[in-house]
Amino acid sequence: MPGEIYLGLISGTSRDGVEAVLAAAEGPLGWRVIAHRRHPYPDALAEELAEIIATQRGQLEDLGQLDAAVGEVFADAALALLRESGIEPGAVRAIGSHGQTLHHSPGTSPAFSWQIGDPFRIAERTGIDTVALFRQRDIAAGGEGAPLACALHAACFSHPEITRAVVNIGGISNMTWLRPGEPVSGYDCGPGNTLMDAWIRELKGLPFDANGDWAAEGEVRYGLLDNLRADPFFALKPPKSTGPEYFSLSWLEDRLTVVGDIGLDVDVQATLTEFTASIIADAVLRKRQPEEPCEVLVCGGGVYNLELMRRLRARLGDVPVAETGSLGLPAEQVEAAAFAWLARQTILGLPGNVPEVTGAAGPRILGCVIPATPPPV
Ligand SMILES: Nc1ncnc2c1ncn2[C@@H]1O[C@H](COP(=O)(O)OP(=O)(O)O)[C@@H](O)[C@H]1O
Ligand SMILES: [Mg+2]
Repeated sequence: MPGEIYLGLISGTSRDGVEAVLAAAEGPLGWRVIAHRRHPYPDALAEELAEIIATQRGQLEDLGQLDAAVGEVFADAALALLRESGIEPGAVRAIGSHGQTLHHSPGTSPAFSWQIGDPFRIAERTGIDTVALFRQRDIAAGGEGAPLACALHAACFSHPEITRAVVNIGGISNMTWLRPGEPVSGYDCGPGNTLMDAWIRELKGLPFDANGDWAAEGEVRYGLLDNLRADPFFALKPPKSTGPEYFSLSWLEDRLTVVGDIGLDVDVQATLTEFTASIIADAVLRKRQPEEPCEVLVCGGGVYNLELMRRLRARLGDVPVAETGSLGLPAEQVEAAAFAWLARQTILGLPGNVPEVTGAAGPRILGCVIPATPPPV
């Protein structure tokens, strides 16, 4: 009889590797991560994904093979996590696999969000029922299909007296607003790490600005900052979501050209770091009533960018900022924990979306279940 352990898998928009967790409904937050693993993409696959996402072009055969190859890496990640944690596949009730987003397009007609990472391979290789294609049902119901982690944020981090904002700083950043006695709200704030990563990759060939050290050497260029902040996305009313296909290096380069006086390369990095801090702080401060006691809980890889966190704290003034890890769910595990939790919702026949957040017509059971057990012979 399978136990109540679930396995969550996601590679976010940063494409810095598959995060895999084993989690169960226990502990003070009601959802505890038992084991975690970051499983990197093989270099060739990472390059191919980067190329297709940057150019927004791909041959059908290449895309089909990429879907299969990413599915194999996700299955590898799940199997490696099971091996190193010593947990038998039979003890896992289901896997929730988000896959790798190739393109998120909630604003087109028709809207769509496209994740690859063939889940049938995951079910076949692990022998575990696999839930996948989480965003599609919400979009079919008129929603943005994102952000989806809000439901877990609400389940784990709601406080009976204190208003909390849970901010995930991945490639894109999103905020979940948890005010006692009110429905959950939330949306994508805009870029998280994606532009900072893109700029340092372009200029220095590095995957990210470790600790924000490079940004800390630069000076914020306020003309450029104002121009970045003037993008129409920030004036849109929620529900809203976005992706690195919109906030891309070419989006940035267009603005650098328009502004002209952008200073040194390092000043651009400093400005992008301030930009990310500013749009997150705006999201929180726009919601907060004057003097309302409130705290911010941060997760995602952005917590390791110390310069970003310093700038975020400066912008938030008297609002305390802590990492989700201080409450027991480490920053880099929250998204994968959310997809393990969403798989459980699906298996139990419960909704996974928050319609107030995504704009869907109502609560929906997300994803589809791929049964792993072969039929009786
Ligand atoms: N030590 C670090 N210093 C600065 N930034 C970091 C560090 N570690 C991770 N990051 C940032 O976090 C990103 C990954 O965050 P993650 O939450 O995994 O995003 P996603 O969900 O989009 O994959 C990296 O691309 C990088 O920008
Ligand atoms: Mg990641």
